[in-house]
Amino acid sequence: MSIAGFVLPLDGQHQQFPGQATVRGRDGVNIRQTPGVSYIHSMKIVITGANGLLGQHLVQLLLATTTHTVTAMGRGNCRLAVLPGNRFVYIDQDLTDGAGVSACLAGVQPDVVIHAAAKTQADDCEKDPIGCWAANVTATRLLIAAVQAFNPFFVFLSTDFVFDGLAGPYTETDTPGPVNYYGSSKVAGEKEVLQCGLAAAVVRTCLVYGDVHGASRSHFIGWVRENLEAGKRIKVVDDQWRTPTSVQDLAQGILQLVEQRATGLFHLSGAEVLTPYQMALAVADFYALDRLLIERTTAGNFTQPAQRPRRTGFVIDKAIKLIGFQPVSFAAGLQRIGR
Ligand SMILES: NC(=O)c1ccc[n+]([C@@H]2O[C@H](COP(=O)([O-])OP(=O)(O)OC[C@H]3O[C@@H](n4cnc5c(N)ncnc54)[C@H](OP(=O)(O)O)[C@@H]3O)[C@@H](O)[C@H]2O)c1
Repeated sequence: MSIAGFVLPLDGQHQQFPGQATVRGRDGVNIRQTPGVSYIHSMKIVITGANGLLGQHLVQLLLATTTHTVTAMGRGNCRLAVLPGNRFVYIDQDLTDGAGVSACLAGVQPDVVIHAAAKTQADDCEKDPIGCWAANVTATRLLIAAVQAFNPFFVFLSTDFVFDGLAGPYTETDTPGPVNYYGSSKVAGEKEVLQCGLAAAVVRTCLVYGDVHGASRSHFIGWVRENLEAGKRIKVVDDQWRTPTSVQDLAQGILQLVEQRATGLFHLSGAEVLTPYQMALAVADFYALDRLLIERTTAGNFTQPAQRPRRTGFVIDKAIKLIGFQPVSFAAGLQRIGR
């Protein structure tokens, strides 16, 4: 894939080696290439929320498969498994501190910003609406203001919770109608991004799963597995519908968006519509655990601060067609996590 302004000037001379190639640029500099690695001219990419589930996988993907340099912004100590090196720095920066964000990004002058940081727990957002708005809306505005002068491509992560859950799975042309504060804050964040004047993509995703290093909270698959391994009974709802998303697919889809500079709204998720109960059964089977420990229940049996949309999930045809997005099945996603 090539992007105007970012394509390495090559003169077409190639030398092939087993598993590797050397390409001679017009300036005569040899560049070693490895199959599967993107050689679109190196960009400076900032990732916020780098300690989180998606942030960790984005950093790993960019370092493993591209030549871009990565500035990983997180809160507190670096929890990434990779060590800082030539192409990777970690910066501890609370995104609600406008002066700090501004100073930090002036030093980087990014070509691309992938804004994955957010207050992501719907119940926490409902209990702390001011903190939710600061993290999900104000921080987004501060980040945009801090990078506006460098004119980067801007990617904002949003959620299926922007919808009311009455008519899922949803396309990009459906109208949002959030039923909780987290969803409302993400709708407001989306508006900040789509109206900011930068070339921008809003990526909505849904029930993301995968491994996370030094996790600050547990994810659905880990929660099911840990409880069943401990012989504990769990109650899981069978009247909410989602399209669960492998975090590796999400990271890969975002990279494709960035390299193609695809702007606008995109739904990136798995293609299968499943309930959490169906997912839990699949987890039990995959790890050969006792599925009888999983009790089928309905959302009405839980009292949670934040209301959940009932039927969300995404139609992902736009991403398949425009950027070549190809998510795996839930079963294949479990294989990726491994036993
Ligand atoms: N995971 C899902 O199922 C899902 C579904 C739909 C949409 N999304 C969206 O996808 C994005 C990535 O989600 P994720 O699963 O990777 O979330 P995550 O694991 O909760 O990571 C979010 C990260 O943002 C950081 N953060 C929050 N407030 C911050 C602040 N004020 N300053 C700096 N950092 C801050 C958190 O830091 P701490 O670690 O210090 O708390 C956390 O590491 C989010 O925008 C989320 O809304 C996720």
